Amino acid sequence: SQTLILWAILGYIVGSIPFGLILARVMGLGNLRDIGSGNIGATNVLRTGSKLAAALTLLLDAGKGLVVVLLARALAAEDAAHLAAFMVMLGHCFPVWLKFRGGKGVATFLGILYALAWPVGIAVCLTWLATAALFRYSSLAALVAAASTLVWAPLLGASHILLLGACLVALIFWRHAANIHRLVAGTESKIGAK
Ligand code: G3P
Repeated sequence: SQTLILWAILGYIVGSIPFGLILARVMGLGNLRDIGSGNIGATNVLRTGSKLAAALTLLLDAGKGLVVVLLARALAAEDAAHLAAFMVMLGHCFPVWLKFRGGKGVATFLGILYALAWPVGIAVCLTWLATAALFRYSSLAALVAAASTLVWAPLLGASHILLLGACLVALIFWRHAANIHRLVAGTESKIGAK
């Protein structure tokens, strides 16, 4: 149980590194809080106009989920990997350094899925791409893709991730409350719009 506590703390700390905010500052793109939705994720980094910074944010935010889960599984066990995954998401969404105003968890969730069950990660990624291609809303693609996890996991023989998956999908929906309101009101901004 000491091991579990250590992985939980490590997960939270790594998860709480706001790569988007850091990259935007280091690359001279401005303060993300004053841009678009004010969010720290890749979608909002793209609104600065830098595709490179957005791609790096996506990779690093996904990478922190992937690395922590793979490490926890390799050095501890599957229960540690699941707990670490949950805590990485909590760290990303509620980082203590940002007065708990963090991101929405989509990229980090994808990284976690790749680590836990890579076929599900690929299926969810493709679901995001297809939804984004059809409707051009990053938030809608995220919501559809996240929810699709609960369909893909049993179909692809990964029912063991369903409990964790359902918790994380609920967290992602909660973090998208403002986006859902904008989608319903027809005021959500499309991908690439400034
Ligand atoms: O993953 C976040 C995305 O779904 C929405 O981001 O900046 O449009 O709120 P944003």
